[in-house]
Amino acid sequence: MPDNRTAAPPLPHWRGTPRYIAADDLCATVNVAVALGRPLLVKGEPGTGKTLLAEAIAQGLGLELLTWHVKSTTRAQDGLYLYDTVARLNDSRFGDRDVRDIAQYIVLGPLGQAFERAQNGERVVLLIDEIDKADLEFPNDLLHELDAMRFVVAETGRTIAAAVRPIVVITSNAEKELPDAFLRRCVFHYIEFPDEALLGQICRVHHPQVDDKLLAAALRQFLRVRSLPELRKKPSTSELIDWVAGLRLAGIDPDKLESALPFAGVLLKQERDTQRAAKVDFAKLAQRRF
Ligand SMILES: Nc1ncnc2c1ncn2[C@@H]1O[C@H](COP(=O)(O)OP(=O)(O)O)[C@@H](O)[C@H]1O
Ligand SMILES: [Mg+2]
Repeated sequence: MPDNRTAAPPLPHWRGTPRYIAADDLCATVNVAVALGRPLLVKGEPGTGKTLLAEAIAQGLGLELLTWHVKSTTRAQDGLYLYDTVARLNDSRFGDRDVRDIAQYIVLGPLGQAFERAQNGERVVLLIDEIDKADLEFPNDLLHELDAMRFVVAETGRTIAAAVRPIVVITSNAEKELPDAFLRRCVFHYIEFPDEALLGQICRVHHPQVDDKLLAAALRQFLRVRSLPELRKKPSTSELIDWVAGLRLAGIDPDKLESALPFAGVLLKQERDTQRAAKVDFAKLAQRRF
């Protein structure tokens, strides 16, 4: 797949951004995917920063971000362009536009826009979010379009050919297995759930003024909750960020967090999980190291 059309000026090394904390292995994978011109496929628990990653890559490299949120009905062709026949029909009946000019009813999708921008050598970051939402044909069809780097608008005969490869970030929540042919062409990264130190750094990005003692106590209690066996849904990074906001607003005493779980509903969203947490003796659990 990488070929001479990818010969664009080298991009700076990506290291995360002040608002996005990336572990070293993630930075390395991002940089290798960019250098190889391969799509970066990112998996990981919900809330581990998969969607936000594309924005952070765009920001860090000084490029524009285009976003394509995949739905169950999305087809690869939709990413290239849509022919808005409804608008044309409306215009033919009520409007004053010249409906013979079909080009004005061609709406480029995010992939089409990325290729259009790349015609003159402009690289953009294209996020294809939650690829596993669509049907099984979608990943392979998408690869076909990504490989080709060009497409023809059949209705007008216009060809759009990218001169450089966009930086493509694809996220998956692992709801479905992805086809082997698709995986072969991607660079893959699994975002591990952050350890305590990294979680602390991420929280600081969102709450720069947080009191050290409160943050440390919140992190310990959060990890205790995550370690509870049989949770249906473990709380994620984004829920931790909300929880710390709640603790700060309410002025919770950090010492209390050793024995209580205030605002449990910010962390736990399943009735069974909140009932389970209500029975836990956190003070006892806090004595143990894990
Ligand atoms: N590494 C990180 N640095 C900064 N904020 C993060 C990070 N990881 C997660 N977050 C926070 O968690 C929220 C959820 O991230 P998101 O990208 O939507 O997760 P995912 O797509 O994996 O479900 C973000 O809006 C951000 O507030
Ligand atoms: Mg997401």
